[in-house]
Amino acid sequence: MAYKLDNVLFSEEQIKARVRELAKDIARDFGNDKPLAVVGILTGAAFFLTDLVRELPENLDVRIDFMSVASYGDSDKSSGVVRIFHDLKSSIENKNVLIVEDIVDTGLTLSHLQELLHNRKPASLKTCVLLDKYERRQTEVKVDYCGFKIPDKFVVGYGLDYAGKWRHLKEIKTLVDDGK
Ligand code: IMP
Repeated sequence: MAYKLDNVLFSEEQIKARVRELAKDIARDFGNDKPLAVVGILTGAAFFLTDLVRELPENLDVRIDFMSVASYGDSDKSSGVVRIFHDLKSSIENKNVLIVEDIVDTGLTLSHLQELLHNRKPASLKTCVLLDKYERRQTEVKVDYCGFKIPDKFVVGYGLDYAGKWRHLKEIKTLVDDGK
């Protein structure tokens, strides 16, 4: 089965407006007593993260780092292990940490990642996701900031891909079976 692009779920303007609101919430919640280590999960969240941090005020001590991970386990059973392809460059010990992820689906990747980063003893650990496909959750996961809750549909664009394609789209679109 092959897919083609379908409807726009969120336009460039809608995303921009929501990212600005999220940045306001984050700026309100973090002080300057400690650096805020913003941890982006590659590759999908890179687009969201770069827009989000540019909406944060300049007096906030923001540090940016990236990680690339995959969660082991099949659809209904997780092994509880996150494989790290690319780790953070800096220590997060005693820093306020904000994980930035593109989408939370089953929640397995994020819950494992939260546990892994928690073990590195940050001062605090919060999570910001652009999209939440809440109907598909298989494990409880704490999300502190959420851009949009979405139905159980596969989406691409603004960093999200299908088999490596369509990350570069300015908007978020659904896919449809192209009948081939
Ligand atoms: P989870 O462990 O099931 O929550 O998986 C989260 C990961 O699955 C995300 O970081 C995405 O890489 C991928 N994913 C889940 N749903 C979608 C989607 O609709 N479009 C693109 N990627 C998705």
